[in-house]
Amino acid sequence: MNVAEKKQFGRVGVLMGGLGPERDISMKTGEAIHDALAARGHDVVRIVVDRDIDRTLRQTPIDVAFLALHGPFGEDGCIQGLLEMRGIPYTGSDVLASALAMDKIKSKELFRLYNVPTPPYYSVESHALDRLEELHGSFGFPVFVKPRRSGSSVGAGKAGDMAELRARVEDAARFDRSVLVERFVGGKEIRVAVLDGRALGAIEIVPKGEFYDYKSKYTKGRSDYHYPARLAPTRYKGVLNLAERAHRALGCTGATGVDLLVTEGENEYVLEVNTIPGMTPTSLLPKIAAGAGYGFEDLCEAILSRAAIGVHGAVDDTAADGGIARRAVQQAAE
Ligand SMILES: Nc1ncnc2c1ncn2[C@@H]1O[C@H](COP(=O)(O)OP(=O)(O)O)[C@@H](O)[C@H]1O
Ligand SMILES: [Mg+2]
Repeated sequence: MNVAEKKQFGRVGVLMGGLGPERDISMKTGEAIHDALAARGHDVVRIVVDRDIDRTLRQTPIDVAFLALHGPFGEDGCIQGLLEMRGIPYTGSDVLASALAMDKIKSKELFRLYNVPTPPYYSVESHALDRLEELHGSFGFPVFVKPRRSGSSVGAGKAGDMAELRARVEDAARFDRSVLVERFVGGKEIRVAVLDGRALGAIEIVPKGEFYDYKSKYTKGRSDYHYPARLAPTRYKGVLNLAERAHRALGCTGATGVDLLVTEGENEYVLEVNTIPGMTPTSLLPKIAAGAGYGFEDLCEAILSRAAIGVHGAVDDTAADGGIARRAVQQAAE
C-alpha cells in the first residue's frame, strides 16, 4: 500500500476491550492490530470500548473503525449500529450479518435454508427447564450443550445422559436465557478463514482436553495445530467450499472464521461463523493467512481496506430535513 492509499484511510481507530467475557482476548487482538497498522505507517489510535463509547467517539474523532471486539456488543451488531449512526466505516460484517452470526439458532436456521449441513438440534428456554425431559424426547445421547449467543466455548459442554444434560443446560442458562442442545459430532475440528467470500485455507485443531474449550483456545500448548488440515485434497476443497457457503448464507463480509467438524465418514458440519476472529499473533486467522501468503501486517491492511459503511451509506448530516429517513418516506409516497 503506498502513501496516497494510506492517506485515504485517515485516522484509524482500533476498537478493543468491550463489555463481554472475551475482553482480555480483545485487548490482545487490538494491541496486535494497532502495532501492525502503526508499523505500516497508518495514523492509528487505540479506542478502549466501555459503556461510554459514544462519548469516546465524539472526543476522539476517527475516520474508520477497525473492530477488534469479541462477543456481546462488539460482534453482534450493536457497535456496528452505533458506528452506522455516527457515519463511521468499520471493518467486517454489517449489523444484520453480525447479529445473525452471533445467534447460533438463527445461524442454523439459515444454514438449513441454504443447505449448509449443521448438526441436528433443539433449543431450551430457561423458563422451560422443568420440561427438559419432554423436550429432549427421543433425541438421544451424547449431545453437546451451548448457550445460544456466546463465544470462546463459555458455558459449553458434552452430556451423556439425562442427569448430565440437566446440569449442562442449567450451566449454559447462566449465560443466555436460550440454550442449544446439539447432536454430538465426533471428528476433526477445523477452522476455515474466509476473506471477502473466498476461503484462504483450513487449519486442523487437536485440543488436548475433551473438546476445544476456553483453556484449549487460549492456553499455549493446550492444543496442537496442523496447517493445512490433514484431509484428502478433494475433501479439503469441499470443506473450503462449505465454509464459503456458510459465510454467504449469513451475508458476512470482511474476514470470518468458520468452525466445522469433519467426521471419519463422509460428513462435514458447520458449527458457526465468527465475524471478528481473534488476531493475536497465536490466533488461527493469522496462522491460516500466513499459509495463504499474507503476513500479519498484510492481513490487517487487507481487512482495513475493505472497511465500509453498511446498508445506509453515508448520512448527510447537514441535511436539515433529517437525511435518509425523510427521503425514504418521500420515495414511498411517490
Ligand atoms: N455438536 C457438537 N459436537 C461436538 N463438539 C462440539 C459440538 N458443538 C460444539 N462443539 C465443541 O465446542 C466448541 C465450541 O463450539 P462452537 O459452536 O464453535 O461455539 P463457540 O466457539 O462460539 O463457543 C467447538 O469448537 C467444539 O470443540
Ligand atoms: Mg467456535
